[in-house]
Amino acid sequence: MASSSGLLLKVVMWIIFLSYTTTSSTSQSFSEAQALLKWKVSFDYGHFKLSSWNTSTTSSPCKWFGITCNQAGSVTEINLSESFLYGKLDNFNFSSFPNLVRLSLTKITLYGAIPTHIGALSKLTHLNLSWNGISDKLPLALANLTQIVELDISHNNMTGELDPLLFTNWTKLTSLQLQYNNFSGNIPSALGSLNKLNLLCLDSNQFSGSIPLEIGNLRNLVQLDLRYNHLTGPIPPTIGNCINLATLSLSVNQLSGSIPPEMWSLPYLVQLYLGDNNFSGELPQVICKVGSLVQFTAANNRFTGPILKSLRACTGLDTVQLQWNLFEGNITEAFGVHPNLSYIDLSYNRLYGELSPYWGKHPSLKSLQIQGNHINGTIPHELGQLIQLELLDLSSNQLVGEIPTELGNPSYLVHLDLSRNKLSGPIPKELGNCSKLKYLNLSNNYLTRSIPSELGMFNNLQLDLSYNELEGPIPNRMMTYGYYPPEAFSNNKGLCGGGEGFPSCFPSLGTKKGHDGTIFVGVSIYITMFLPSVIIGFLLLFRRKMTKIHIEEGTRKNGDILSIWNYDGTIAYEDIIKATENFDIKYCIGTGGYGSVYRAELPTGKIVALKKLHGLEGENPAYQKSFKNEIRVLSEIRHRNIVKLHGFCSHQRCMFLVYEYMERGSLFCILRNDIEAVELDWIKRTDIIKAVAHALSYMHHDCTPPIIHRDISSNNVLLDSELKSYVSDFGTARLLDPDSSNRTILVGTYGYIAPELAYSMIVTEKNDVYSFGVVTLETLMGRHPGELLSSLSSSVAKTIMLKDVLDPRLSPPLDQLVAQEVISIVMLALACLRSDPRSRPTMEYVSQELVASRQRFPQSFHAISLCQLRELEM
Ligand SMILES: *[C@@H]1O[C@H](CO)[C@@H](O)[C@H](O)[C@H]1NC(C)=O
Ligand SMILES: *[C@@H]1O[C@H](CO)[C@@H](O)[C@H](O)[C@H]1NC(C)=O
Ligand SMILES: *[C@@H]1O[C@H](CO)[C@@H](O)[C@H](O)[C@H]1NC(C)=O
Ligand SMILES: *[C@@H]1O[C@H](CO)[C@@H](O)[C@H](O)[C@H]1NC(C)=O
Ligand SMILES: *[C@@H]1O[C@H](CO)[C@@H](O)[C@H](O)[C@H]1NC(C)=O
Ligand SMILES: *[C@@H]1O[C@H](CO)[C@@H](O)[C@H](O)[C@H]1NC(C)=O
Ligand SMILES: *[C@@H]1O[C@H](CO)[C@@H](O)[C@H](O)[C@H]1NC(C)=O
Ligand SMILES: *[C@@H]1O[C@H](CO)[C@@H](O)[C@H](O)[C@H]1NC(C)=O
Ligand SMILES: *[C@@H]1O[C@H](CO)[C@@H](O)[C@H](O)[C@H]1NC(C)=O
Ligand SMILES: *[C@@H]1O[C@H](CO)[C@@H](O)[C@H](O)[C@H]1NC(C)=O
Repeated sequence: MASSSGLLLKVVMWIIFLSYTTTSSTSQSFSEAQALLKWKVSFDYGHFKLSSWNTSTTSSPCKWFGITCNQAGSVTEINLSESFLYGKLDNFNFSSFPNLVRLSLTKITLYGAIPTHIGALSKLTHLNLSWNGISDKLPLALANLTQIVELDISHNNMTGELDPLLFTNWTKLTSLQLQYNNFSGNIPSALGSLNKLNLLCLDSNQFSGSIPLEIGNLRNLVQLDLRYNHLTGPIPPTIGNCINLATLSLSVNQLSGSIPPEMWSLPYLVQLYLGDNNFSGELPQVICKVGSLVQFTAANNRFTGPILKSLRACTGLDTVQLQWNLFEGNITEAFGVHPNLSYIDLSYNRLYGELSPYWGKHPSLKSLQIQGNHINGTIPHELGQLIQLELLDLSSNQLVGEIPTELGNPSYLVHLDLSRNKLSGPIPKELGNCSKLKYLNLSNNYLTRSIPSELGMFNNLQLDLSYNELEGPIPNRMMTYGYYPPEAFSNNKGLCGGGEGFPSCFPSLGTKKGHDGTIFVGVSIYITMFLPSVIIGFLLLFRRKMTKIHIEEGTRKNGDILSIWNYDGTIAYEDIIKATENFDIKYCIGTGGYGSVYRAELPTGKIVALKKLHGLEGENPAYQKSFKNEIRVLSEIRHRNIVKLHGFCSHQRCMFLVYEYMERGSLFCILRNDIEAVELDWIKRTDIIKAVAHALSYMHHDCTPPIIHRDISSNNVLLDSELKSYVSDFGTARLLDPDSSNRTILVGTYGYIAPELAYSMIVTEKNDVYSFGVVTLETLMGRHPGELLSSLSSSVAKTIMLKDVLDPRLSPPLDQLVAQEVISIVMLALACLRSDPRSRPTMEYVSQELVASRQRFPQSFHAISLCQLRELEM
């Protein structure tokens, strides 16, 4: 009896308990829903992403986007990461979420401060607010999050000092990430109380002072990152207590002193980054007693001593950067067996001795840099066995002997610098096998004989062969495809051909150019073998005579020599000759396919650009007439995004165009300069693209007959002092080829030419549309899209994300409108790059779409792939 009444009592109590918890959780759920809705309406954008947050469909928030509840129906997790929202935390009522355990609000463009009432989240274990624009100090209220395990506020705009009291209650914290903010002051020693910590990232802030000794209390620390701060003083010896450390990053601070010996005994250290500090002293005889260092960087310090010996036992190394120190020693002595070594930079130290054949025995080596040491002896043939090699720099040493022909073997070689040595003999023609080569510097040696014609096969090669003893013709193809400046060949013994600044290889034929490279080489070998001194003497005489003729003509009054139609001032031929000292190389500001560009300051103070055209020496009067007609048409073009042509000068030996001068030069150069590229923010870049589109639309659709540019490239987009852009060189292609108005020799710049021109020589506006697509991607990516162009049509495209191709030197557009504009532009560019010319849009359409700038893509910027953009119909 007693037991059954006891049972009844239990059941009744249980029912009361149940109904109590349900009502309380319903009301809890209701207040959570209300708090979320209140927060939702405070967002500036992105409500479509939160369309499920709506009480008319369900009153419980548990099924809403990004929300997870416990069984009682109370919110435990909120994850809105990577949803484009844009808003503040101020209107988020933290007190309404007593059961919240995880809060992830990364990459949703939060701004403003972290409100102090965040301290109400007493059960929170995971807080991730990274990759937003949150500012102000870390509120002390965060100390109330006593259950916190992982805290990530990295990549924001936080400032102020870290309050030591913050760390008193975080007894469970294993991961603290505050990197990429603007925190300042000392690193508080109170951090030492976080003894569960295994990840601590404070890098890329403004922290100063020294590293606290208490860091040694963090015995569970696996990764410590303090890079990019202003830390001073030595590394505390207590670091030796952090026996679990695998990654230690201290680079780019002002740390000093020698490395405490305790550090070299850390048993699990894999990555050690010490570069760009003021460290000094010798490294111990053996730095890999225990563990296996894989990456070791210590560049830009004042370390001394014989380094290669110290590294000998580190057989697991893959990356070693020790450049710009005072390391010394004999490089001949092999420094160990390093089967994984792929990157080693020992440049600018005090290494001496000869390169042993042993250096060819690193099967994984991709980059070998030993420049700026005192290495002598010859270059070992065995370096040709480094088949993975992409970069080899042995410049500024005292190497002698010939360049081994085996250096043509590494087929991935991109960068080869052997300049500033004492190398002799010929340039091996085998270098022409390195089909990926983009940089070749052999200057300042004693290289002899002629330039092998194989070197003419490269596109976009940066080349320097100056200050050698080379002779003979500059290979014809080099001038057609490479666009090398004359300086690349200057100060040699007897190079000829190649236009500007070099004598012709056929003095008796005047200035006419040969078309067949083989005959050319044959004849010039004959010349260099039998008549070198006579010919050179003759050439010198010939050049002097040419100069004289120029000056004489220069003193003649302008008459028909110079025709200027649209210039507001006066301009005379002799002014131009005087201003450029008869086209002296020092006024040359660029060289392109059509000719070289000079800067001329006229006596009035006005600056103009002069384009001296190659290959227009013809004296055919019919040609002259058509040239003048073309020029007249072009000089009448008026468009705010096209560089003004003021006029031209046409005479047998002098053909130049006079253009408006653009202070900031070409888009090509600006994008290649890291400082200037950052100045070109997203808004300026989208403006540049619009300007080019308007200019092309005008020329294609508002001019009769339409004018096709035929060489749209970033070299031909110029910027003025306010970074406004202008298209230059309109119609120049036609000037060079006037009587074939729609069939053509292949002009244009490699990498921008529409694919159909390879098989059909019919020029249409759609060729310009393609080139425009390339320039557009280049402007947003900060570099030529290169192989991306071919991968667009393959299946790889699915995995290419828009955010990953944009210029990494700018942070992704934060402003929603700018982001949408970037998306629209990429979409248009991809349409312009379609391989069937008929399916490309017209420039008129592109230009109008860019102005309309409608919001097309209701998806988070970070989640868009190129493939999605390509498949959208326009
Ligand atoms: C909720 O959804 C209904 C229908 O789906 C819609 O009409 C209403 O505007 C929405 N309310 C809010 C606040 O979004
Ligand atoms: C949050 O959601 C995103 C996708 O919406 C997912 O990738 C991420 O892993 C989630 N984060 C957490 C902490 O659950
Ligand atoms: C926040 O929520 C709590 C509990 O739901 C409530 O008492 C308080 O009034 C709310 N605060 C504001 C500012 O709405
Ligand atoms: C932090 O916790 C203490 C004690 O639990 C409480 O008095 C204080 O109000 C809390 N602070 C915040 C900002 O919630
Ligand atoms: C926070 O979110 C970012 C971006 O989603 C992610 O990369 C990071 O690993 C997260 N942090 C933690 C501690 O999980
Ligand atoms: C630490 O937590 C306790 C409550 O658990 C609180 O009273 C105290 O104020 C917290 N410390 C700080 C510095 O906020
Ligand atoms: C960072 O915060 C400062 C003020 O503290 C503000 O001027 C600046 O615009 C912010 N930067 C970003 C990228 O939000
Ligand atoms: C970071 O703070 C420093 C001063 O501590 C200030 O000079 C700098 O402009 C700030 N940087 C940003 C991006 O807010
Ligand atoms: C460098 O070491 C090699 C091999 O041990 C030796 O033959 C050579 O003389 C040394 N060179 C110098 C300059 O000490
Ligand atoms: C290389 O330099 C060392 C001195 O550093 C010298 O003893 C040796 O003879 C030189 N070798 C050659 C081949 O010039």
